[in-house]
Amino acid sequence: MKLWTIVALCLAAAVLVVGVSNSSFHVSAQEGKKPQDVYTLSQSAKLGAVKFSHINHVTKNLSVDGTKPIDCIECHHTAQPAAEVAKHPPHKTAWPADRTTTLTAELLEKDPNAAGVALCTDCHARAGEKPKLLPEIPTLKLEGAAEPVVLNNQQAFHRNCGGCHDEVAKAKPATTAPTSKKCVACHKKTAA
Ligand code: HEC
Ligand code: HEC
Ligand code: HEC
Ligand code: HEC
Repeated sequence: MKLWTIVALCLAAAVLVVGVSNSSFHVSAQEGKKPQDVYTLSQSAKLGAVKFSHINHVTKNLSVDGTKPIDCIECHHTAQPAAEVAKHPPHKTAWPADRTTTLTAELLEKDPNAAGVALCTDCHARAGEKPKLLPEIPTLKLEGAAEPVVLNNQQAFHRNCGGCHDEVAKAKPATTAPTSKKCVACHKKTAA
């Protein structure tokens, strides 16, 4: 690497660190955004975009056992204090790092600015891209695997979304939840 590249990288890192610690809630400038009812995810995927009903996933009883709504932190895993995160290995990262609150519908309602929700892709960037909030895309060492998995957007979403749907299908084979292998049940060329 050329010296100026290294200097530029150091400066960028310093700016990032200062930004995160001074104004943690404003870095991603989400400014207490409410979730949309429906998101069109993965708009750049060759297979097609994925329609995700946030509202269904937080209001209907879509937990694996079908008895309750899914907790916010099952997906927004960094939106809880570090001590809570530590109870859910392999997770260990809280964001912002010094947060004291756990994301719930009530918290978001009461104080949207303190809810501290970062977009998944701000950390789980697309392969080869630098995430907005981390120095690099996080990796995870799985038991028995030689190389750690790079948790890019594809890996993170497939594990989170497909992982739950696979569990649901085991318990309830007739479910409409698209399992990991059903690529085009999620990815649609026309995300209608
Ligand atoms: C602030 C950064 C950040 C945000 C935002 C974030 N993640 Fe992560 N994610 C990580 C890091 C770092 C890890 C590695 C484990 C750890 O340090 O907690 C991880 C791990 C994971 C894993 C692997 C854990 C496992 O059990 O397989 C999944 C899946 C995942 N994230 C999905 C998501 C989804 C879905 C979202 C959005 C709803 C999201 N993440 C938001 C940083 C983030
Ligand atoms: C099944 C996974 C899942 C669950 C459960 C979930 N979310 Fe989300 N949420 C997402 C995804 C995916 C997005 C889309 C944006 C992204 O890429 O991170 C999102 C976006 C958001 C955003 C918008 C962030 C922004 O800046 O635009 C907020 C706020 C939010 N969720 C709050 C909540 C709250 C509060 C709960 C619990 C009541 C919750 N979410 C439960 C997956 C989930
Ligand atoms: C903790 C469990 C869980 C997680 C995490 C989860 N889902 Fe689901 N999802 C379900 C269940 C259960 C259904 C089945 C709904 C039904 O039977 O009516 C479902 C249904 C769906 C459907 C079918 C259409 C619909 O809305 O009924 C799509 C598409 C979908 N999920 C996308 C996603 C995406 C994308 C993510 C990740 C961002 C995700 N899901 C995360 C449990 C989950
Ligand atoms: C449960 C829904 C779901 C299923 C099933 C699913 N995907 Fe995905 N996939 C997603 C989501 C959500 C993303 C990332 C969203 C984002 O970055 O905003 C994604 C991302 C990807 C990406 C990365 C796109 C990019 O360049 O950013 C590829 C490639 C991909 N999926 C292929 C597949 C293949 C192949 C299968 C079947 C083996 C599959 N997916 C099954 C939901 C799904």
